[in-house]
Amino acid sequence: MVDALWTIGELVEATGGELRCATPAAPIHGISIDSRTVTSGEAFFAIRGDRFDGHEFVDAALTARAGLAVVAADKLDTITGKGPLLVVPDVLGALEDVARAARARSKARIVAVTGSVGKTSTKEALRIALSPSGPTHASAASFNNHWGVPLSLARLDRDMPYAVFEIGMNHPGEITPLVAMVRPHAAIVTTVEAVHIEYFKSVEEIADAKAEIFTGLVPGGHAIINRDNPHYERLRRAAKKAGATIVSFGESRGAKARLEKVALNPACSCVSAKILGHPVTYKLGAPGKHLVMNSLAVLAAAEVLGADLALAALSLQRLEQPAGRGRRSMLDLRGGRATLIDESYNANPASMRAALALLGQSAPSGKGRRIAVMGDMLELGEQSDALHAALASDVAKAGVDLVFASGPHMRALADALPPGRLARHADRSDGLRSALLDAVSDGDVIMIKGSNGSRMAPLVEALCERYPPMQAEPAE
Ligand SMILES: Nc1ncnc2c1ncn2[C@@H]1O[C@H](COP(=O)(O)OP(=O)(O)OP(=O)(O)O)[C@@H](O)[C@H]1O
Ligand SMILES: [Mg+2]
Repeated sequence: MVDALWTIGELVEATGGELRCATPAAPIHGISIDSRTVTSGEAFFAIRGDRFDGHEFVDAALTARAGLAVVAADKLDTITGKGPLLVVPDVLGALEDVARAARARSKARIVAVTGSVGKTSTKEALRIALSPSGPTHASAASFNNHWGVPLSLARLDRDMPYAVFEIGMNHPGEITPLVAMVRPHAAIVTTVEAVHIEYFKSVEEIADAKAEIFTGLVPGGHAIINRDNPHYERLRRAAKKAGATIVSFGESRGAKARLEKVALNPACSCVSAKILGHPVTYKLGAPGKHLVMNSLAVLAAAEVLGADLALAALSLQRLEQPAGRGRRSMLDLRGGRATLIDESYNANPASMRAALALLGQSAPSGKGRRIAVMGDMLELGEQSDALHAALASDVAKAGVDLVFASGPHMRALADALPPGRLARHADRSDGLRSALLDAVSDGDVIMIKGSNGSRMAPLVEALCERYPPMQAEPAE
């Protein structure tokens, strides 16, 4: 019985590589592709990233006492450090080989998650929901692409009973090879929206690309699909074609995991639902209707994977919102206080609407106002300005009093707002800084969101610097 994640011998067998200066029986405790975080006894895979080639860091990894460095044969002469090496023709290919070997030896019940938004939120909720039924492995961060998925699989311990993998894509055809490695028992498509639309001809094409996830299901696997989404029928047909058992979720009649009642509070939600015939009532530890909808998919997955549904539902009160994805704090205005909702991590039309709804759900106190600080949503192609302008109705629905907007596309929203609603538009986010800092007053609720490239996080930092957060708002 081997305790370690891998032995070096197993990695040799999986990759067919050639070993130098290493003992096959030696244990490997982790898989890394980052020499800055690699720790003693881990295997460092020198893959080529977006900006760097891992081979430049093999010496650093060996100095950090990596248990093994996996390197390409044609790069061998660039490595000067001494240490155990596994030489392969192609390092990413070797990582995929190890991923497949991890899957082949695993008895885990596996769920894969894709969707235009909500992949990481849903993956983290699954991690929490499955854990009471047994140790649960889950992808780190948003590791969902051509290296993130094999890396996450290669890290799967041999005895793990449950595993959750996030799978993403920017182009058609990307999910198929990734899900073929994961071979999940259940596959969730959270939702289909106009995200990364510049790489697609239509939203239907996005739906088809998401539906690729069903092609990797094990025979008899479950496809967990959003029944409220306009593309439900398209996804259902694709899942059927792949031989999957369909489990729909949502508010719509006929959804197999159906929302029955919900109370949306500023810091949490209370939900009654029927999951494949089982009534459950539970509290979600983070607010927002969008997370409620994701939770239906999470519980449906828990049920079809054979986990304890009641414990899964109970555990969801531990759900949290990480920085940049809806984390709330109370700002000390010295002589007043304001609530900050930090959504600065990223944005697309779906998550922007969800964040505006969340702002609408949060009542200002006294003379306070709802303030939305919005930066450009990127990668929306030709429809970009129209998609920005269309948010005007969501701004109105949420009862937003003031909008600070930045970026060229947000100009379209600024122009679509009724008179008096726009506080300021600037070409770049730092152009909003001083006006925003001066505008904040007692009782306000401020929500900040934009695509990563729109640099909204510095505005969150500026607010927190001027008005230091008092405490995390207590969950209700
Ligand atoms: N079902 C949903 N509908 C709309 N917005 C959602 C939904 N689920 C989560 N969100 C919001 O979308 C944003 C991104 O969420 P998350 O990080 O889970 O998405 P992701 O799909 O993993 O994104 P990425 O492509 O960056 O990995 C967050 O602000 C989150 O609150
Ligand atoms: Mg993600």
